[in-house]
Amino acid sequence: MGASAYPPTVYVLGTDRDIGKTVTCIGIISNLIAADRGYRLGDIGYIKPVGQETLTVLDDFGEPVKADKDAVLAISLLGVDSPGHQYSSPVVWADGVTAQYIDDAAAGDPLDGRQAFLDRIREAYERVAEGKKVVIAEGTGQPGVGSVAGLSNADVINALREMGVPLTVLLVTRGGIGSTIDQVFPYLVLLDHMGARADGLLINGVFPSKMDKIQHYIGTYYERVFAALYGERLKVQSAPRIVGYVPSIKELRYPTVRLIYEALSKVDAGGVEAVAPVEFGQASLSLVRHVKVISLDTGFEPFLEPGDAVVVGVNSNDVIRTVLALHARMVAQQGEGLAGLILSCRQVGGLCEEIEGSLAHGDLPTLMVALDSASIVQRIEGLKVKIQPYDEGKKALIAAAFEGLPLLANLLP
Ligand SMILES: Nc1ncnc2c1ncn2[C@@H]1O[C@H](COP(=O)(O)OP(=O)(O)OP(=O)(O)O)[C@@H](O)[C@H]1O
Ligand SMILES: [Mg+2]
Repeated sequence: MGASAYPPTVYVLGTDRDIGKTVTCIGIISNLIAADRGYRLGDIGYIKPVGQETLTVLDDFGEPVKADKDAVLAISLLGVDSPGHQYSSPVVWADGVTAQYIDDAAAGDPLDGRQAFLDRIREAYERVAEGKKVVIAEGTGQPGVGSVAGLSNADVINALREMGVPLTVLLVTRGGIGSTIDQVFPYLVLLDHMGARADGLLINGVFPSKMDKIQHYIGTYYERVFAALYGERLKVQSAPRIVGYVPSIKELRYPTVRLIYEALSKVDAGGVEAVAPVEFGQASLSLVRHVKVISLDTGFEPFLEPGDAVVVGVNSNDVIRTVLALHARMVAQQGEGLAGLILSCRQVGGLCEEIEGSLAHGDLPTLMVALDSASIVQRIEGLKVKIQPYDEGKKALIAAAFEGLPLLANLLP
């Protein structure tokens, strides 16, 4: 593939981990394939040049390989086609690589190892970009991540630009005013120093009540103020264009019962059981808005709302019966019932047969967990909620949030 043949590529960089880079990639891809944009899913490539958090997946030969979690997500949730995980996720910075790299670098030439990584990224990009109209590349962590091996985001951006990739760099940051400007500043200086400018800014997670004010002040600062203050100091970086303000979508922070099940199983696989319904995989995708522990025998119903996950002791048969009846009433009257039922202290005793039967025939996703109620709540509250390959509902919410953004006009040449 000749240099001029590379497709326009958006490199999504973030001012932090968990800032919304993957959400932005999902949003951009959804925006591109929306009806009137002229792109099909098959026209879009995705690459995560340097990954940090890996999952084990099977390669084309059925062999297990480590691939970055975001690359796996883009392929499985969005359906982006991939020439293989080794290309969508060419470098994974797994545990132990840092010490190994520094040892090797100190004993020989540090540039050798770096060159090998960059070659792998270039080759992977070429494979991912083949036949595509556009490529979305997701950066890693904050811009400095990867610098251990000379592979920081700025290094990767430079490597891609040097090979002739028409790259638009988008920096994703959190929605605020002063805090946002302050958080972005060191990265603009860093990118400038590295000769790797950011072209656009995406302000993510803006509270709707503050949207107008944030748009006004952020827009005014970068259009009218930034260049006067710092323009002379910067060589390649000018004031970035604001390509969009994305609202805070509270549902993205809600776990599903399935995520709770997976997270609890990771800690103690034998201590968690998905007891109902038979189609647990599909039923457990509803979002859990609040987790509520029931410690009363009666009178708790007014405190429960649709979307709640309810924690009840496994032996509290009467309470469980009442919860099931309440769930059915909510579904009938409000169209939405409880999100889940979590039965604590499973070692205390099994479920009685009659309740087991009702659960199995119902639709309420139910877990039986060895932990006590307090520990269950603590674990769920401490959960880092990231988008999962099965989160179709969240994908739709992100697509809707990005629908009105003039991303394309602002991003692609
Ligand atoms: N606009 C938003 N509204 C509400 N929550 C959001 C929003 N954007 C991101 N989040 C929350 O932050 C989490 C992390 O987002 P995301 O995975 O996109 O971050 P990231 O920058 O890609 O992280 P990583 O550094 O691991 O690649 C999401 O799963 C979601 O819970
Ligand atoms: Mg990500």
